[in-house]
Amino acid sequence: QELQLNLEQIEKGGYEHFMLKEIHEQPTAIKDTYRGRMLPDEGIIRMAGVDDNLERIANAKRILIVACGTSWHAGLVAEYIFEELARIPVEVEYASEFRYRNPIISEKDVIIAISQSGETADTMAAIKLAKEKGAFAFGVCNVVGSSISRETHAGAYTHAGPEIGVASTKAFTTQITVLTLIALKLAKQNGTISHTEFMTYLQEMERIPSKIEKALEGDEHIKMIADIYKDARNCLYLGRGFNFPVALEGALKLKEISYIHAEGYPAAEMKHGPIALIDEEMPVVVIATKKGHYEKVVSNIQEIKSRKGKIIAIVTEGDTEVRELADHVIEVPETLEPLTPLVTTIPLQLLSYHIAVMLGKNVDQPRNLAKSVTVE
Ligand code: G6P
Repeated sequence: QELQLNLEQIEKGGYEHFMLKEIHEQPTAIKDTYRGRMLPDEGIIRMAGVDDNLERIANAKRILIVACGTSWHAGLVAEYIFEELARIPVEVEYASEFRYRNPIISEKDVIIAISQSGETADTMAAIKLAKEKGAFAFGVCNVVGSSISRETHAGAYTHAGPEIGVASTKAFTTQITVLTLIALKLAKQNGTISHTEFMTYLQEMERIPSKIEKALEGDEHIKMIADIYKDARNCLYLGRGFNFPVALEGALKLKEISYIHAEGYPAAEMKHGPIALIDEEMPVVVIATKKGHYEKVVSNIQEIKSRKGKIIAIVTEGDTEVRELADHVIEVPETLEPLTPLVTTIPLQLLSYHIAVMLGKNVDQPRNLAKSVTVE
């Protein structure tokens, strides 16, 4: 028993929980994901699974992404990135819906399954179905040799290392990293971005780990905000564009480990429903980084403020406009817009982590949830 406990402490590497350790591992995990694949000086991205099937993937009429949970959110971010950079139409589906609705799939489609564990039953079934209909199946998994990685025609591992905390953190950001590299490769192949743009993305990708380090430095400040809102009954998360899926993921993190009801919404949809919920009891987390429809998000913030909602804004370093309106601001370093989810996600992970710890919840093993769902 004692040996077991000691072993677990060693595995946690000095952190109180696996989740916190995994949050802090993200700079390294992302480097591990792109190491050997991305060569910014030479302007090359090498990924065997993509290179060996480059024509097939780059000529896809459509890319279908299937996943569940947090991996589905990574898929939504990828949809924005693929369409922006590679100009290939993308559809993202919950694997559980896709498999049961007689989906239209053609041999010109490429289906990408995203799965940390590589064992999720619904995602596996979706891949099998798409393969039967002649689609090319590509896996983005973390666990090497997992069922989904074996069932797909090709793939790219995330190399995030083992993720123990049930609430997914480093798997999410490394999934986005892999998918961004793929999008950049396809964009280069299809000539949808210039060589200069391609080089700029590669160089910026290399700066992401240190920008995440910087975002992690906000921990104490985030802890203080967590202390103020830990007793909230509900929480709203808003974002637009590339950061809309980040809002969904932020809300999921809070639900999963603190059991506080949270919803993520595209900021502009607020007026079609959630705005009715806003009063002085409602904390609203808004991702309001520069670019990314910044002015529109600012006006969403004004709408929340005039209804007395409490605003926690994720802003770009040095922002002054939102600072004047929001109750709290959390700064993150600036990056290229499609890459912002990699940094804006960090404070949301920390916020839910601290709230859950303060509420005395079992952060690494939340009730009713499993790390890998191998049944329907
Ligand atoms: C479970 C986990 C989530 C995960 C989802 C998909 O619900 O608790 O953290 O996002 O399954 O898992 P996968 O392994 O396919 O990414």
